[in-house]
Amino acid sequence: MKLLDLHHDPIDDEALARAMVRVFGGRGDERALIAGWREDGQRFVPVAVEDGGVLGWALASVQEAANPASYAEPFGADLTSLTRGEPVAVLHQIAVLPHARRRGVATALASALGQWSRSTDARSVVGVSWSHGGEHHSGHLFEAAGLRVLGRCPAYYRRFHDATGQRCPVCEPEPCDCEAVLYGARFDELHSN
Ligand SMILES: CC(C)(COP(=O)(O)OP(=O)(O)OC[C@H]1O[C@@H](n2cnc3c(N)ncnc32)[C@H](O)[C@@H]1OP(=O)(O)O)[C@@H](O)C(=O)NCCC(=O)NCCS
Repeated sequence: MKLLDLHHDPIDDEALARAMVRVFGGRGDERALIAGWREDGQRFVPVAVEDGGVLGWALASVQEAANPASYAEPFGADLTSLTRGEPVAVLHQIAVLPHARRRGVATALASALGQWSRSTDARSVVGVSWSHGGEHHSGHLFEAAGLRVLGRCPAYYRRFHDATGQRCPVCEPEPCDCEAVLYGARFDELHSN
């Protein structure tokens, strides 16, 4: 397995789009989303590949402190003491295809995200964990990285799906009942310091 960088390495967009649909459910605009990530130099998109196939990917960006405040609003969380007005690394997605799970792919992606975010001017990190009640959720990953729970939002994904037409691959055909958990930490309070 090796990690590629969407901004610097050749990536099979069609394979990445298929992986996105497989893990999160289809929206129909995956190829356009990937093209947008590639054009946006503020984003970091490591992609795990093996034998030419996509195993997983992650998506992060650095945002001004004002943006993550609206990001945290559905959780009723106040990020003031976390961000202290400084830029924040936002982890938008981390995902691994079912056949490649529990062999450290997400851990490798998370490590790349950690290295990248510390190379930016961000001083803290936030991310939302999809809590779908199944075995393969990301809560352990966030906790292993030293992030703490900042808030929970039961209707987060249902609202998102209503807005985008995406269907939850876990709850389908019922409306999505998955909870979202907001995690975060300042870099200077993480284990690796
Ligand atoms: C959450 C997710 C990204 C984890 O991916 P992964 O590649 O399986 O993660 P890792 O293999 O690095 O770690 C997962 C577990 O496998 C264990 N593991 C790692 N390498 C292992 C190995 N070689 N053998 C056995 N177990 C191993 C880890 O210790 C970890 O255990 P834990 O959950 O008890 O802490 C993946 O399950 C997924 O895509 N889930 C659905 C989408 C999702 O929820 N994404 C997050 C949205 S925020």
